[in-house]
Amino acid sequence: MIPKPFKTRNEDGFFAINNHTRIIVPQDPEIQEIGKLLSEKIAVSSGLNLSVENQLDSKKDNTINLIIKDTDEELGPEGYRISISPIAIYIKAWKLAGLFYSMQAFRQLFPPQFESTEIVHGVNWKLPCLYIKDLPRFPWRGMHLDVCRHFFPKEFIKKYIDMMAFYKMNTFHWHLTDDQGWRIEIKKYPKLTKIGAWRVDRSGQNWNDRKPPKENEKPTYGGFYTQEDIKEIVAYAKSKYITIVPEIEMPGHAIAALAAYPELSCTGGPFHVMPGGYWPIRDIFCAGNEKTFEFLENVLSEVIELFPGEFIHVGGDEAHKENWAECKKCQKRIKEEGLKDEKELQSYFIKRIEKFLNGHDKRLIGWDEIFEGGIAENAAVMSWRGMAGGIAAAKTGHDVVMSPAPFCYFDYYQGKHGEPPAIGGYLPLDKVYSFEPIPKGIPGNKKEHILGAQGSMWTEHISTPEHLEYMLLPRMAAMAEVVWTDKKHRNFDNFKKRMMDHYDRFALMNINYYISPPQNFGGREVVFRKTKIELQNGVENSAILFTDDGTEPTIESEKYLKPILVNRHMTLTARTILQNGRMSHPVSTYYFLVDHVLNGLHYKYFEGDWEHLPEFDSLEPKKTGHIFDFELDKIEAEVDNFGVEFTGTIKIIEEGKYTFYLISENGHKLEIEDLQNSGKFKTVVDTDSEQKKIKQSGSISLQEGKNQIKVSYFQKSGGQHFKVLYKGPGVEKQPIPPQYLYIPLDPDSQDE
Ligand code: ACM
Ligand code: ZN
Repeated sequence: MIPKPFKTRNEDGFFAINNHTRIIVPQDPEIQEIGKLLSEKIAVSSGLNLSVENQLDSKKDNTINLIIKDTDEELGPEGYRISISPIAIYIKAWKLAGLFYSMQAFRQLFPPQFESTEIVHGVNWKLPCLYIKDLPRFPWRGMHLDVCRHFFPKEFIKKYIDMMAFYKMNTFHWHLTDDQGWRIEIKKYPKLTKIGAWRVDRSGQNWNDRKPPKENEKPTYGGFYTQEDIKEIVAYAKSKYITIVPEIEMPGHAIAALAAYPELSCTGGPFHVMPGGYWPIRDIFCAGNEKTFEFLENVLSEVIELFPGEFIHVGGDEAHKENWAECKKCQKRIKEEGLKDEKELQSYFIKRIEKFLNGHDKRLIGWDEIFEGGIAENAAVMSWRGMAGGIAAAKTGHDVVMSPAPFCYFDYYQGKHGEPPAIGGYLPLDKVYSFEPIPKGIPGNKKEHILGAQGSMWTEHISTPEHLEYMLLPRMAAMAEVVWTDKKHRNFDNFKKRMMDHYDRFALMNINYYISPPQNFGGREVVFRKTKIELQNGVENSAILFTDDGTEPTIESEKYLKPILVNRHMTLTARTILQNGRMSHPVSTYYFLVDHVLNGLHYKYFEGDWEHLPEFDSLEPKKTGHIFDFELDKIEAEVDNFGVEFTGTIKIIEEGKYTFYLISENGHKLEIEDLQNSGKFKTVVDTDSEQKKIKQSGSISLQEGKNQIKVSYFQKSGGQHFKVLYKGPGVEKQPIPPQYLYIPLDPDSQDE
C-alpha cells in the first residue's frame, strides 16, 4: 500500500468477495454515495454485483460496513481504520474525508486487476485479513501544475486530480498565469484570454531559443479554462477531497497579462505572449500605478468567487526590478511610502494584495521571495529556493509549504542518460523519497508551521499528458509517502517493492510512467582487459534486455543473466523490462578498453578560490594521481573551488589539423607539444572568463604519434562542467577516446 499506513497488523485468512457480499451504510446520503461508488468500482472489473444496503437485519456475515464514528477524534479529520476478518469488513472514520481515504487504501488491498476498466476473468477477488489504523503526517499534501508553459485540457486536469486522490494528496496548486499564457477567464477583462491565452506556435523548437513573433504572425498555440470549466473542476476536486489553490502571478511572470493590458507595465509595452523562455523577467506590473491594484483586485475578486479554499497563491517569484528602478511612478511610490528600495516596493505590493485577500476571508501564499522585505502576519510561504526561506519564515511564525527544487521539482531529470529533454537537474526517485519537510534548524515549537510539502510540475519541456505522466510517476507516489507516512515508517527499499504492484495498476488505469533503466549505467567507461560488467536492476523484480552491437534492445534481445565480458571497445545498450512487458528507454555505455599501466593521464588537484586560472606550477597540489579520462567525478573534488592540471600524451593516428574544444564554467587552458616547433608547448585553447559553460576551441597541426598534452582547469563555484573534445582527419568531434591517452613517463619532468 502506498502511502504506507500509520499502523498495519496482518492477520491470517482472507475475506472473499462474491455476489452475496453486501455493503452496509448508515442512512447518510454522502456515505451511501461512497458505498455506491465502491460497489460500482467492484462491478466494473469483477462483474460481481454488491448491494448497498442500510442494516435492516443483524446478519454480519459477508458484509462490508462503512461507518462514521463521531467519537473517534483520535483519527483526525483524514484518518480511518480498516479491519478485515474472514467474516466481515469494518471501515471506520471520524469524518467523511477519512472515509474517502479509506476507500483509496481499500482499493489497493484488491489485486491490481481491480483497476481494470473491463471485467477480468479468473481473478480470485479476495482481501487479506488485517487491521489498519491510518492518518496523515501533514495537512498540506500537494501537487502543483503549470498549465501556462503548456496548456492541458480540462479532461486531463481531472485525471491529474484522480492520480493525486489515489495517493491521498489533498491540495492542487494550479499555476494559471505566467509569461507564456493566461489560462483563466476573467469576465471583467476579456482580453486576458482573448490575447493573453494565445501565443505564436514554436512547438518543436528549443524552449530557450524561441524567437518572438514576427509582424502579422498569428498566435495559434494556447487555451484557457472558462469560469464554467473552473467550477466543474473545483467541484470534481471537492468530490475527491482536494482543495485547489489557484495561482495568479504578480508582480512578475505577468507578460501574458501585460500583452493584453500594456498600460499596467512601467514602460507601456507593447508586449506579446512569450512563445518560450524569457529571462530575466523585467517587464512586470507597475507598482506605482493605482490602476495595477485596481486590476489585480478585480481579477482576484473573480478568482475568490470561483475557488472556495482558504489560500490564494500570488506567485511573487523571480521579478527583476530594473524597470521599477527607472519608473517615475514606482519611484514616487517608494518615496511616498518611505520604502528603502525596490525590494521593499515588492513587499509593499504583496502586503497590499494580502490586505485585500484577508478582507475577503482568504489567506495569501507566495513563493519564498515574498519573505524578502517583510511580509504581513498571516501570509504563508512556499519555499522553493531550497529550504532557507521556509526555515526563516517558520521561525518567525509563518506557515510554510516546502517545495525545494532539489527534492520537489518534477521537471528535473529522473535518470542521467537518454531521457527526453527536461529543464535540467537530477531528481531520481530515491531522492524524492529521502525528502524531509521539517529540516533541522526549526525549533520544536515552530514545527507545526510546516504545513507540508508539494511536488512541483513546471511544463516548459512537457507538452503532452503522456509526457507529464512520465515525469509525475512514480515520483508523486514517493512524495505522497513523504507527506502522509510517519517518518519512522519510511523505508525506500520497502517502498520500491510496494511500487511493483502499482506499475501494474498504472497500466490498467491508462497512466504512463517512468521506468528506470538499469542503475549506474550509461555514458563512457574505461575498462581493463577481461573486465566483467555487472548490470543492476533499475526496478525491483524486473529483467534487463541488452545488445552489444549498438542497436536498441527489443523483446527478442538477450536477457541479462550473468556478468558480461568486455574484451574489445564495445557499446552495451540495455533497458529494463517489467513483468507486465513495459520497457524503459534504452541506455548505452561505451566501454573503452585500456592498458592500466600505459594509458591514462597524470593529474594534480588543487584547492583555492581564484578569479583566474592560477599558475599551478607554483602551487602545492592537495592530491595527485593516475586517471584514464578528463573526468572530474573520478577526482572527487571535496570543495566548490578547485583546480586540476592534467598531463599526458595523446596518440595521433593520422597527421593533420586537429581542433580541440574545452567546455567549462570558469576557466581552462589546453597546451600541446608542437613538434614542428622543436617540441615547445603551444597554447591551443585559453579562456579565463567567468561566463557560464564557455566553449572555446583552437586548432593545431599534429603529426602521427604521441604528442604531449597539458590541460588545466579551475572551478569557482556552482555546477561542475568540464569536457575535452577533439576533431581531426577522419575523427568526428568527440571526447578524446581514453585508449589514445598515455601517461607521461615521468610526470614531474613535464612541469618545466
Ligand atoms: C519558481 O520555480 N520560479 C517558483
Ligand atoms: Zn512602474
